Amino acid sequence: MTTPDRETIGVIGTGYVGLVTAAGFAELGSDVWCIDIDAAKIERLRAGEVPIWEPGLAECLERNRGRLHFSTDVADALEHARLLFVAVGTPPTYSGDADLSAVHAVVAAMPPSEHHALVMKSTVPVGTGAAIRRAFAEQGKDGFRYVSCPEFLKEGSALTDFLAPDRVVIGDGSDWAGDAVADLYRPLLTPEHGGQGVGELVRTDIASAEMVKLASNAFLATKISFINEIANVCEETGADVLQVARGMGLDDRIGPKFLQAGIGFGGSCFPKDVSALKQLAGNSGYHFQLLNAVIEVNELQKRRVIGKLEKHLGSLVGQRIALLGLAFKPNTDDMREASSLVLAARLTAAGATVVAYDPVAEEEARHLMHGVEFASSALAALEGADAAVLVTEWPEFAELDPAAIAAALRGDVLIDGRNALDPVAAQAAGLRYEGIGRAV
Ligand SMILES: NC(=O)c1ccc[n+]([C@@H]2O[C@H](COP(=O)([O-])OP(=O)(O)OC[C@H]3O[C@@H](n4cnc5c(N)ncnc54)[C@H](O)[C@@H]3O)[C@@H](O)[C@H]2O)c1
Repeated sequence: MTTPDRETIGVIGTGYVGLVTAAGFAELGSDVWCIDIDAAKIERLRAGEVPIWEPGLAECLERNRGRLHFSTDVADALEHARLLFVAVGTPPTYSGDADLSAVHAVVAAMPPSEHHALVMKSTVPVGTGAAIRRAFAEQGKDGFRYVSCPEFLKEGSALTDFLAPDRVVIGDGSDWAGDAVADLYRPLLTPEHGGQGVGELVRTDIASAEMVKLASNAFLATKISFINEIANVCEETGADVLQVARGMGLDDRIGPKFLQAGIGFGGSCFPKDVSALKQLAGNSGYHFQLLNAVIEVNELQKRRVIGKLEKHLGSLVGQRIALLGLAFKPNTDDMREASSLVLAARLTAAGATVVAYDPVAEEEARHLMHGVEFASSALAALEGADAAVLVTEWPEFAELDPAAIAAALRGDVLIDGRNALDPVAAQAAGLRYEGIGRAV
């Protein structure tokens, strides 16, 4: 049943962002019409199955089952809701530009209307909103409103992020739709903005809202590539990147987040959004030099693990290498652009046998990784391997007893790609431990 003051909304695209948005707004009391072109996915959702793994999502969807409606027909959303949140994918094309074909398909499916608005949650290049408004005008749909409301959720804590956002950014054309979106988010905003939550409200024009999203992700990616380069210099000079990062992060102008050195960022957002911003700049005549370096450092960082393994093992031909963790980060089954994909492919190309374990991403990984053996536990993956690489810092790996790791391995090399293990304990167990940028 709809809470009287919560309006019914539509969500087009029921992936990570769409489902979390739908579940979050349902939790706040809205009825939500969820639309997807993937009929099998809609069937599963109707049957109460959750197609993605995200903490708390299944429970939230179950709790709000009465408010959630699933359909493949966008007309259902148009009939019941005036605000249609768009959360379709915008993957990278071969050139690195964002592929907007799904967004264009949604725009083309909208009928002329004076009382509907598209609310863009998908990450799109700056200028997309303006282009869509022009397309609406050319198609005689000028009454159709447009709002940019970029999404900042993090996979692994997506629902919590939805319910406790740092900020809600709304870019609009100064009409009813921007205000209606702000009202929907109101309970999550600070008391200063009329809510009971923690989110700052940022109202902007459409282009600026689009840029906030791209610039935020590009900045975070830059921070990661920066600390990874510091880690690489630490390895050359004997400094320890964990101590360096702590010393840096206590400066409140820098902050401690995103200063964890590792084997590179992945996921469905950072690589694609950094590349989309670089291309966007290039298409408008500006050479975004810094982002070129951010991308290149990230690519090289994934490959440095091979060098570390070769340093200890010599040729990798015939060596059995265990990968602990495959998802691009813990608490998700998302394998898009995961560092494990590059690593497994490079290891296989170098003649090694790869055996992998991930607590939740195995099913996804099986579609994407070929010639890789999958193990049912971390210890099963380690059994008889010449070396192990910790790829994703799932908490269960930090709890492994170093002695048990040493006993399971045939060899003694342990590369900690996320600096998640205790080097002293590992060395005490007889392992040749190597982290990223560690002095030990
Ligand atoms: N995943 C994240 O962490 C995250 C965070 C912030 C922003 N974003 C952005 O949000 C957008 C969606 O990302 P995602 O990870 O949820 O993608 P996703 O691939 O998980 O989901 C997209 C969904 O849209 C559906 N779809 C495609 N075309 C459609 C159409 N014409 N009509 C209806 N449904 C359609 C697909 O079937 C799929 O279910 C992207 O632009 C992404 O960059 C993602």
